[in-house]
Amino acid sequence: MSAVLKDVPQLAPMRDHDLDEVMAIESAIYSHPWTRGNFADSLRAGYECRTLRVGAELLGYFVLMAAAGEAHLLNLSIAARHQRAGHGSGLLREAAGIAHRLGARSLFLEVRPSNRGAQALYTRFGFRKIAVRRGYYPAHTGREDALVLTLPLA
Ligand SMILES: CC(C)(COP(=O)(O)OP(=O)(O)OC[C@H]1O[C@@H](n2cnc3c(N)ncnc32)[C@H](O)[C@@H]1OP(=O)(O)O)[C@@H](O)C(=O)NCCC(=O)NCCS
Repeated sequence: MSAVLKDVPQLAPMRDHDLDEVMAIESAIYSHPWTRGNFADSLRAGYECRTLRVGAELLGYFVLMAAAGEAHLLNLSIAARHQRAGHGSGLLREAAGIAHRLGARSLFLEVRPSNRGAQALYTRFGFRKIAVRRGYYPAHTGREDALVLTLPLA
């Protein structure tokens, strides 16, 4: 493979054998990470799970659930050292494209109010806030709300 092609980020379906690397990123970037079981269950359930790699290195991943005309982005993550390089936007575009192809009219997600970086990404992408779920997330002290955001896909 040429050096140029080797450096192009590649998307692939997530598999069980990716989960060691997925968990290494997940536990490094979240205060309350998903468990390995959450990813394994998502794979078993047939959710749309993708990895993004450059060569052998895992940069990030997402988990998307699409059903009954709507889609939910359950997880979107980029390794700390690869953030702010456009990869999160790329994965979000890919997730929205898959959701649209699967017949979803809207894409939903939840985000912590304290997660300003992710909110900036979603707002820039065209998501808007439609609801607040009180005490949705575990937090260091008590619980944290979730903002529910949606993006029309039509
Ligand atoms: C949120 C996340 C997925 C964004 O991925 P990313 O690859 O860093 O994002 P991008 O480089 O595509 O950012 C695109 C734009 O979003 C906004 N943005 C992204 N991260 C930001 C941050 N930390 N602070 C402020 N704005 C941010 C900026 O407008 C950015 O454009 P710019 O870099 O030209 O200013 C990534 O930071 C991440 O995995 N964070 C930890 C896990 C997480 O919070 N996941 C989302 C849970 S809902």
